[in-house]
Amino acid sequence: MQPKQMKRIFLIGYMGAGKTTVGKDLAQRGGLSFVDLDHAIEARYHKTVREIFQEKGEEGFREIERKMLAEVSTFEDVVISTGGGAPCFYGNMEFMNSVGTTVYLKVSVDELVARLEPCKHTRPVLQGRSCEELKTFIRENIEKREVHYLKASIVFDAETMLTETDVENISKALLNLL
Ligand code: S3P
Repeated sequence: MQPKQMKRIFLIGYMGAGKTTVGKDLAQRGGLSFVDLDHAIEARYHKTVREIFQEKGEEGFREIERKMLAEVSTFEDVVISTGGGAPCFYGNMEFMNSVGTTVYLKVSVDELVARLEPCKHTRPVLQGRSCEELKTFIRENIEKREVHYLKASIVFDAETMLTETDVENISKALLNLL
């Protein structure tokens, strides 16, 4: 009998793509543990991501994010959902590809704007932008970020995620691919 293969899955994608929602469901269905990178940072520093941005700036946050990514990437049989910017700094994408399977949850700009507009104040990168500004920002930002996102082992269409059944279907489809 073949020994069971260790699984380390990274969910990547833009803010609002559903990385945490899908990650939790996927982990449960696959019998894996689940780590949310932002939550791991907040638990370690006893501060919200927003507070870390305020105190240390984006550069300080990215440094912390890189270290925490390296730390949680030693875990085995795990689904790790990363912050939207994580794959785009310090060669993190190459690093994740070297230690696990990366899955890009791809969602259109219009759908992301609809999902993010009501909760933009919780994301330091988005706060203070009007709806139109948000749309322009997300479109331009994704264009830059996709250079990294598209290096994922799996690019998965996560456009439809309205109901629990949608999430279930996405996780089941992913489990078949992984
Ligand atoms: C960020 C995304 C956030 C969080 C931080 C920065 C980004 O995570 O890491 O606010 O630059 O895209 P989510 O993608 O989980 O919202």
